[in-house]
Amino acid sequence: MKSIVILTGAGISAESGLKTFRDSGGLWEGRSVEDVATFEAFEKDPETVNRFYNDRRNHLTEVSPNKAHLALAKLERHFGQALTLITQNVDDLHERGGSKNVLHMHGQLLRKTCAWCDAGADCPRDIEMTEICRKCRRDGGMRPDIVWFGEVPKYLKEIEDALSSASLFLSIGTSGHVYPAAGFVEIAKSCGARTLELNAESTLKSNLFDETRTGLATEIVPTFVVEILKAWP
Ligand code: OAD
Repeated sequence: MKSIVILTGAGISAESGLKTFRDSGGLWEGRSVEDVATFEAFEKDPETVNRFYNDRRNHLTEVSPNKAHLALAKLERHFGQALTLITQNVDDLHERGGSKNVLHMHGQLLRKTCAWCDAGADCPRDIEMTEICRKCRRDGGMRPDIVWFGEVPKYLKEIEDALSSASLFLSIGTSGHVYPAAGFVEIAKSCGARTLELNAESTLKSNLFDETRTGLATEIVPTFVVEILKAWP
């Protein structure tokens, strides 16, 4: 049985209107990750950190999944459990595009956790500093369920298992700057998978892939999905 592992990054959501991190005008331009994407930043200035993520969460209501998200959902409907979709994205566009099993390795904007007791909850609205945790009843600790720099990404065991048995590893719209995701291509390759990168431009990791295709995600992802459905009917 053929199995597919797909890793997505900010580039797949770019044409939906969500900013990437490292492109010109991206979220990290003119901003230090230490100011909003570390636990130390949250301890020092929780309001600024929560405001950054509240703004991004609110922006989700203004965007919709694009053809690339829809194409991957179609692929999942065909392959079912034999497809593992890993995303570094914290948006919900894969789910809204129809994907059912999405491993959000860097967390999700629509979830929050209590920094005091780790209790998690859905987070459809802004996080307020006055919010009281339903489990431990303490306030001031509610934070977005986002994996910050220095924290351990989620689902690493599931990801390792999927990579070790993948026939095909596909990387879409990610620049290859952030580990462990940036190292998945080497793991998949060493386990025997064919590797393919789909991105707007060459990346730090392009030379490691068996094949790279450059172009807009909304064009090259649906094209690839048609190809793979023909090749592996
Ligand atoms: P980056 O901003 O680093 O890279 C986005 C990639 O998408 C770039 O290589 C772009 O060329 C490409 N791209 C842009 N528009 C595209 C389009 N329309 N079609 C195809 N490709 C396009 O974002 P990530 O690699 O996702 O982590 O960043 C990885 C992690 O760094 C993020 O999850 C985040 C960040 O710090 C955390 O916050 C923990």
